[in-house]
Amino acid sequence: MVLICAPGVVAEQTARVRLEIVMDQYIIKGGKALAGEISVSGAKNAALGILAAAVMADETVTVENLPDIRDIDILLQVIASVGAVVERVDKHCVRINGGTINTIIVANDNSRKIRGSYYLLGALLGKYKSAHVLLPGGCDIGSRPIDQHIKGFEVLGATVRIQHGMIEAEAVDLVGNHIYLDMASVGATINIMMAAVMAEGQTIIENSAKEPHVVDVANFLNSMGANIKGAGTDVIRIVGVPKLHGSTYSIIPDQIEAGTFMIAAAATKGDVTVRNVIPRHMEALTAKLVELGAEVEEYDDAIRVVATKRLGSTQIKTLPYPGFPTDMQPQITALLAVCSGTSIITEGIYENRFKYVDELARMGTNIKVEGNNAIVNGVAELTGASVVAPDLRAGAALVIAGLVAEGYTTVEQIRYVERGYECFEKKMRDLGADMEKVDSEDMKAVQKFKLKVG
Ligand code: EPZ
Repeated sequence: MVLICAPGVVAEQTARVRLEIVMDQYIIKGGKALAGEISVSGAKNAALGILAAAVMADETVTVENLPDIRDIDILLQVIASVGAVVERVDKHCVRINGGTINTIIVANDNSRKIRGSYYLLGALLGKYKSAHVLLPGGCDIGSRPIDQHIKGFEVLGATVRIQHGMIEAEAVDLVGNHIYLDMASVGATINIMMAAVMAEGQTIIENSAKEPHVVDVANFLNSMGANIKGAGTDVIRIVGVPKLHGSTYSIIPDQIEAGTFMIAAAATKGDVTVRNVIPRHMEALTAKLVELGAEVEEYDDAIRVVATKRLGSTQIKTLPYPGFPTDMQPQITALLAVCSGTSIITEGIYENRFKYVDELARMGTNIKVEGNNAIVNGVAELTGASVVAPDLRAGAALVIAGLVAEGYTTVEQIRYVERGYECFEKKMRDLGADMEKVDSEDMKAVQKFKLKVG
């Protein structure tokens, strides 16, 4: 075990984060059908909420099945910056003890790089009745306001101000209350849950988000002694408790990573078994893949996707869970771009999540974006090109298109992809893909790859 994030000490992870800012790119030679099996890592969007919630105890919390991705490294840095002890047992396990926290001010610049840093608002407010957190970052896919988070904190009795780039939440007391969310916000549901778990009395959150990662955070908080019921439904009831205790908890598998590989299997007309998944979490995507003509077999903790022919067309609207996840919208668009017929995708969550379509067009797709709709006219073939990832899930979609395209594709700005996918290129290679990560400046590496794969 290596103590790499002592209270307030900048850890070696910072060096690692700095190193990864070097302009890496993926280089892919397309045309091969993916085959074999891969195992899905822990869920990024559960891990971010759980790591923040872990600071609410003054005892050691052990979190297992962490995904080894940049967003986790960054959040652990931020948690250490407020004085918590963070011990990296290995790349998939961390021990956190919030008993040494010495400030409620989260001003570490890293917190602006990710969305998940804002979960420290609910965690520190819930524990210390006070939290000042830098406004978060996250993928540039829309305005992403936090008015619902603030509304929830205020209904519980906090005063919230935004000044100097910080969200400042203060309360004399937090008292349980009835909160009705204007939309089923994942972040607001998780943040308000954390603010309420040690409040006086009962809190009801209506119109709460039902995503699997919301349920995972609730289960984790309950493992620390919280009293939360109804997570996974649109009414969550929380009875405040005076204190939370240590726990050992393993994070659920990442449904978005699983879906990304399922879609890549279908797009390359392959035969892939995705292990370490909860099939129930994948139902919206599974139904669509079957509708398109793929064969999908479900096992207890695995899903097999087989596509032997060119698939058909469909209509998709992204919705809060259990609807089709917005975080799989770019990936399924890349698949539909090479299916037969015309498909329509409606982005029901974000107002700006089709930016990647211009990059796909460089590979020969025929997609027209009109407002929050994309009309996808399937084409028989794509050709490799140099493209740039505008955000995390769009980067994954460009990789899927590169795996299908004839010839070579380079995907730049893959630091976005590495925020949410562990060993992405290795997992793709394990399925037979000709794909490597190289330094964009290293032309020799590019030539070496081309010589190796022919
Ligand atoms: C989480 O973001 C995920 N990120 C996102 O995944 C995911 O796309 C999103 O949930 C929806 O599933 C993390 O968990 C770190 P929201 P979050 O609050 O919490 C509006 C990925 O690729 N809204 O459900 O920010 C907002 O504008 C990332 O892994 C308000 O108007 O999502 C957005 O349109 C990308 N006011 C919609 O709701 C609020 O106070 C969804 O937001 C909050 C949200």
